[in-house]
Amino acid sequence: MAFESKIRTIEWVGNVSRMVDQTKVPYEYVTVDIKTGDEMYDAIKTMIVRGAPAIGVSAAHGVVLYAQELAKQNLSRDEFISKLIEKSEYLKTSRPTAVNLMWGVNKQIELIKNSQSDISGIIEELKQNGIKMENDDISINKRIGDNGAEVVPKGATILTHCNAGALATVGYGTALGVVRSAYAKDNTIQVFSDETRPRQQGSRITTFELKMDGIPVTMITDGMCSYFMKKGMIDMVVVGADRIAANGDTANKIGTYTVAIAAKYHNIPFYIAAPLSTIDTSIKSGDEIPIEERSHDEVTTINGKLVCAEGVNVINPGFDVTPHELISGIITEVGILRPDYNKSIADAFKTSAMC
Ligand code: MRU
Repeated sequence: MAFESKIRTIEWVGNVSRMVDQTKVPYEYVTVDIKTGDEMYDAIKTMIVRGAPAIGVSAAHGVVLYAQELAKQNLSRDEFISKLIEKSEYLKTSRPTAVNLMWGVNKQIELIKNSQSDISGIIEELKQNGIKMENDDISINKRIGDNGAEVVPKGATILTHCNAGALATVGYGTALGVVRSAYAKDNTIQVFSDETRPRQQGSRITTFELKMDGIPVTMITDGMCSYFMKKGMIDMVVVGADRIAANGDTANKIGTYTVAIAAKYHNIPFYIAAPLSTIDTSIKSGDEIPIEERSHDEVTTINGKLVCAEGVNVINPGFDVTPHELISGIITEVGILRPDYNKSIADAFKTSAMC
């Protein structure tokens, strides 16, 4: 029996991209209509939309928004295409780490380059492609969830870090997709959610969406995971990913690496759940993944209030890279990939090309 989530994060409606404003969660659960390409750039940058797959689909919508605006400028077809590609490339610079952003835009650029249609035809094709990406995202997440549920022990407590849930995707989630599919089979499982400083995607978003879907969740702060692992209270870890290199090294929210080390020490399986669109086979290892450096205010303040000595030195990388040796498996839509990841990742792309 499949689990039905109440959450739909992004949807193309008429001529706009409608998305849940995640900067407001958990205080408010409201949608915002993104009407222009530049608004989409800002929505990604300011994290109104966040989470790798959600960013990927939003960026694809962003290309449609730019196309709609350029169509009003009386350009020739060639001028329209060249300006649209320029704007699309700009969208890719809104955040650096999640490769789904580049993936979503590249899918649209490929369509633009191959289309034989006139300007209005291209816009319609881009729109349909964006809507297809939305639907594909949900069905891929359900496959990830079902594949992952196979390795969730009965009655398990699953630790997750950050939010790789319905709100980080179009719906259902990757890591929380595994939770949803496992819960549909066994409603005695539960989740431990790390707070995930500095932006608190765990406490603000993961606890919110699991509560909304009625799945038991306990929030802990980031430093607590090894304490609970030692006590035998965590059976497995499942997290999402922003970019996975060809050798399986995985960038995810800062703090993930620490959780992986603790899991290894306590002999607890540590899984990544991600679609193939998060795997960047153009890079050999995690050393090549660009890590976003974010505003220092995220560390020095909570809800706008200073929480440290004024003027203190701060460093705020948004992500870290978990080395492939610490990863028990990468749960994808085509199955669970195991070490040697160079081989299993290459095989997964072959399998998916045949489907
Ligand atoms: O900075 P964020 O909130 O965009 O970071 C999100 C994460 O790190 C997620 O774990 C990752 O994108 C996977 S989402 C399915």
